[in-house]
Amino acid sequence: MSREQLVQVVLPGIVEPEGLEIREASVPEPGPGQVLIATEATGVSFAEQQMRRGRYYDQPPFPFVPGYDLVGRVLRTGPGVDRGLAGRRLAALVKVGGWASHVLVDAGDTVEVPDGLSPAEAEAVVVNGVTAWQMLHRKARVRSGQTVLVHGAGGGVGSVLSQLAIAAGARVIGTASPRHHDGLRAIGAVPLDYRTEDIPGQVRRLAPGGVGAVFDHLGGRSVVDSWRLLAPGGALVAYGSASTRDDTGSKQWPVLKILARTWMWNALPNRRRATFYNIWAGRALAKDRFRARLRADLTEVFDAVRRGGVTPDIGAQLPLTRAAEALRLAESGTASGKIILVP
Ligand SMILES: NC(=O)c1ccc[n+]([C@@H]2O[C@H](COP(=O)([O-])OP(=O)(O)OC[C@H]3O[C@@H](n4cnc5c(N)ncnc54)[C@H](OP(=O)(O)O)[C@@H]3O)[C@@H](O)[C@H]2O)c1
Repeated sequence: MSREQLVQVVLPGIVEPEGLEIREASVPEPGPGQVLIATEATGVSFAEQQMRRGRYYDQPPFPFVPGYDLVGRVLRTGPGVDRGLAGRRLAALVKVGGWASHVLVDAGDTVEVPDGLSPAEAEAVVVNGVTAWQMLHRKARVRSGQTVLVHGAGGGVGSVLSQLAIAAGARVIGTASPRHHDGLRAIGAVPLDYRTEDIPGQVRRLAPGGVGAVFDHLGGRSVVDSWRLLAPGGALVAYGSASTRDDTGSKQWPVLKILARTWMWNALPNRRRATFYNIWAGRALAKDRFRARLRADLTEVFDAVRRGGVTPDIGAQLPLTRAAEALRLAESGTASGKIILVP
């Protein structure tokens, strides 16, 4: 492993994808507790679509290096880190900074990638897999025999979530564009076209008594419909405001509105519950617990991939320096599967 030039993709401000810049510098040395990872795969997530518009609720000030997660091999270890980690393949969830040939990460924030998974396969299920697993098993606690509604079932999080829910014995109704429908049927889900169909009406037809859980990344009006579709004892897990990506004004307001709604609904005398899932929740207050859960849950997802219960959906692999093209492709609504960047 002799790559010793750092290459990073920089988001300089609110720009079109073509406004992304490539920066070269020398490779940094790991500090205490850190590992230096030579990136093998990093992904395009919905977060970068929001960040380039200045619409991600807690993005750092411009300029910065985007990139929510990555997979790579440890090149060097810093003081206090087990030197045996050198050469191992790890996954890391970083929120920003992943679109780089080399990344410094706290060793405690990494998760070992098992043999048998390629870097791209592993990368496709880092943020997507952790989000899906935690919402399904820690938030909604979906049980075998339940019917669940997954919005955006053909997307990065949605496709892993649908597969995990089916593996847990649930019946999945998934909203998606028609290009995902054959794939959703192939895994055993019931697809609905959110572009042309009356989604609440169709879900009521398929599940007259309501559904056991709804996973809603859309926010806005959609969460209200999602709440109303729950059966007694059901759970709404809201986890984004994708429907407001192109709005102007406060980037926090759409999330605050969802939070206010979930608090209000939970205060009502009813047997349903609503929650807003945030993958970073608890990290500031209980870092060790956060890391232990991340490790346990991502390991479960990697195991599901190894056993064949989850097939990572890879849409394209492009060189890191073509990040603009990759972001354009992710935003085009024509690709299916995770867009991976390879340094
Ligand atoms: N809260 C958290 O901690 C957390 C963590 C990770 C991700 N997220 C959120 O999860 C969401 C998905 O992220 P991702 O990276 O998986 O994005 P993605 O791969 O771009 O998938 C998003 C999907 O949304 C679908 N969609 C768009 N409009 C829709 C509508 N009106 N009804 C139903 N589906 C619709 C698209 O479906 P088609 O392709 O079928 O048109 C697309 O596949 C984002 O909102 C992101 O912010 C939240």
